[in-house]
Amino acid sequence: MVKLAPSILAANFARLEDHASEAVSAGAEWLHIDVMDGHFVPNISIGPLIVDALRPLKEETGILLDVHLMIEKPERYIADFVKAGADIITVHVETCPHLHRTISLIKELGAKAGVTLNPSTSLDALEEVLADADLVLIMSVNPGFGGQKYIPASTAKIHRLRQMLDAIASKAFLEVDGGVYAGNAAEIVHAGADVLVAGSAIFGGTKSVAENVSALRAASG
Ligand code: DX5
Ligand code: ZN
Repeated sequence: MVKLAPSILAANFARLEDHASEAVSAGAEWLHIDVMDGHFVPNISIGPLIVDALRPLKEETGILLDVHLMIEKPERYIADFVKAGADIITVHVETCPHLHRTISLIKELGAKAGVTLNPSTSLDALEEVLADADLVLIMSVNPGFGGQKYIPASTAKIHRLRQMLDAIASKAFLEVDGGVYAGNAAEIVHAGADVLVAGSAIFGGTKSVAENVSALRAASG
């Protein structure tokens, strides 16, 4: 079954615990935590303190905390995020000249290692580390903001990545992030995704978080 990873970026931070636990009670398996530094991406978001604040919910429910680092020199903060409770740490290939070393560091510290790339970056940039990755994230918007439109060319990229992973019998998760909603979930899953990140589709709009989780689940098959 496809896993859902609501992005808390779109939640109400004054009611973060309520919002996050509503998504988890409705069946979301992971929570996606977007970390932005105002350098690699134009926006600034959150740090390890918020991961730490979600740790009780993780311990109570068994969800995974999926941390997406959109920051320069991410290796400086990996230990802090693991200590705060991150289960998966995903870094951008554009920020890691020594990507193999960074992946090794994440694993040595006890988390699962994810790698990701911007929409304009070729999958070739990941080829040499694919066998080492526990997760590969396809960005289907330019990172930095929630609420953007899904870039249609992402579907073909997901499909190509699925073929690359299958060719090496990789068990890595294939996660997709940006502009995912009930209307395109089936297309994305059909292309080969097994984890869907969704911010606005879960925490935005007028329906309840629980209704939004159910709708996305139903649409993703
Ligand atoms: C974008 C972030 C996404 C974002 C997704 O930089 O990585 O995780 O929160 O938000 P939606 O689902 O609204 O596109
Ligand atoms: Zn993200």
